[in-house]
Amino acid sequence: MDKRFSVLIENTGERFNCGSNQNLLRGMEVLGRRGIPVGCRGGGCGVCKVHILSGEYHTQRMSRSCLSVEEEAEGIVLACKAFPDSDVTLRVIGKMCKAVNNVAA
Ligand code: FES
Repeated sequence: MDKRFSVLIENTGERFNCGSNQNLLRGMEVLGRRGIPVGCRGGGCGVCKVHILSGEYHTQRMSRSCLSVEEEAEGIVLACKAFPDSDVTLRVIGKMCKAVNNVAA
């Protein structure tokens, strides 16, 4: 069953709801943020990289060329392939950072 969780974007203090079978990138797009780069949505381009600071999540297959073993071990994921299993706090990093931080400024 699809559960809904609250996701906090640490960069801006914004929250959005995300279902357990909805990927985090889709949730951020629903926020209506202009400038969220639309990449491959398939775990292969790396534009949607985020750092999960707290909370449980699961991921689907992500390309090793975008995400190293070390990054994954630190909680860095590709948002298009990451799904919340609890309320989550994340920090946007990488190419998406500019779009998110522009609005915060
Ligand atoms: S959109 Fe390409 S890796 Fe997420």
